[in-house]
Amino acid sequence: MMSDSIQTVTVLSKTTWTPTLFSFTVTRPDSFKFTAGQFVRLGVNPSQLKYYADLSAAEQESAVDEDIFRAYSIVSSPFDEVLEFFSIVIPDGAFTSQLQHLEVGDELLLNTMPFGFLTLARYQKPLPKDLWLLATGTGLAPFLSMLQDLKTWEDYDDIILAYSARTQDELAYVELIERLAEDFGSLVDNPAKFTFVPIVTRTQVEGMLNERLPKLLLDGTLQQHVGKALDPDSTHIMLCGNPDMVNDTKEALKSLGLTMNRRGEGNIAVENYW
Ligand SMILES: Cc1cc2nc3c(=O)[nH]c(=O)nc-3n(C[C@H](O)[C@H](O)[C@H](O)COP(=O)(O)OP(=O)(O)OC[C@H]3O[C@@H](n4cnc5c(N)ncnc54)[C@H](O)[C@@H]3O)c2cc1C
Ligand SMILES: NC(=O)c1ccc[n+]([C@@H]2O[C@H](COP(=O)([O-])OP(=O)(O)OC[C@H]3O[C@@H](n4cnc5c(N)ncnc54)[C@H](OP(=O)(O)O)[C@@H]3O)[C@@H](O)[C@H]2O)c1
Repeated sequence: MMSDSIQTVTVLSKTTWTPTLFSFTVTRPDSFKFTAGQFVRLGVNPSQLKYYADLSAAEQESAVDEDIFRAYSIVSSPFDEVLEFFSIVIPDGAFTSQLQHLEVGDELLLNTMPFGFLTLARYQKPLPKDLWLLATGTGLAPFLSMLQDLKTWEDYDDIILAYSARTQDELAYVELIERLAEDFGSLVDNPAKFTFVPIVTRTQVEGMLNERLPKLLLDGTLQQHVGKALDPDSTHIMLCGNPDMVNDTKEALKSLGLTMNRRGEGNIAVENYW
């Protein structure tokens, strides 16, 4: 029997960024509330997806006929009517090898219990001036939700989003990011100044940084690029994505004098995706 907190949601749209990256929106159950930065558990039953009907009898026979759940950060803001997600495709991954076949009209399961503490609410007031958001790959998702919440623009003086991908085509959502300050910043008095730093690590792109985040922080390139120091007294900094990046960046930041956020105090908050 399905738990009360699990509801069926319907796919409304799908955007393919690259063969291994896509986003999709689903219907939002009326009662479902969350805080920007949180994640949910999404479920898929491969045999219920539309593409299943086009498989050969042998392929259908070997397909999984059970619900598979994974954690997914919510991209959309807590005030949006629909829920948006940003996904990797791992070719032999149980979940995403199926999810990649999503079509509009397909149904997914949503556990409506929101999880996670990578939220701005975790920090004690008064808030410092600067918010640094550092992401690799799909770890961008929770930051997009925060940046589509007006409160974020009201609460900080400076917001820096640094987003690292292997290649330029894997930097998804760039158009949305470039519009954020205009769209959301213009709705509040005295909005935060926003700086977007796209980073590609496996190719050279003119005007973009091309080293990993810990190195960029340790040699000061990122701070210089943004025109701001990382002051432990005036900085909140959030890391999300690849666990090696999270760990290496955390260590780099500690060596620069920043501290882990515990019980509301301290600078650094993190979320690992695997
Ligand atoms: C708190 C939390 C939030 C998450 N939010 C998202 C999200 O918003 N979008 C998303 O795509 N995934 C997210 N993930 C990862 C997600 O839960 C699954 O791991 C992912 O969908 C792959 O599932 P899978 O069964 O295909 O492969 P799995 O068996 O789960 O993973 C196999 C391997 O693939 C790699 N991997 C897994 N997830 C990713 C990823 N996102 N990017 C790059 N490599 C990865 C790792 O090497 C992992 O060991 C999140 C995970 C956690 C813990
Ligand atoms: N990207 C793809 O085309 C692709 C396709 C299929 C499957 N996958 C699989 O998906 C997984 C991850 O792919 P992904 O490209 O989304 O994520 P990723 O490997 O986490 O790469 C995203 C960004 O994180 C950086 N990074 C990785 N380790 C770091 C560290 N220790 N410190 C700082 N930055 C770090 C990468 O830099 P570097 O470039 O220097 O590593 C890159 O800029 C892997 O298992 C991969 O095999 C990827």
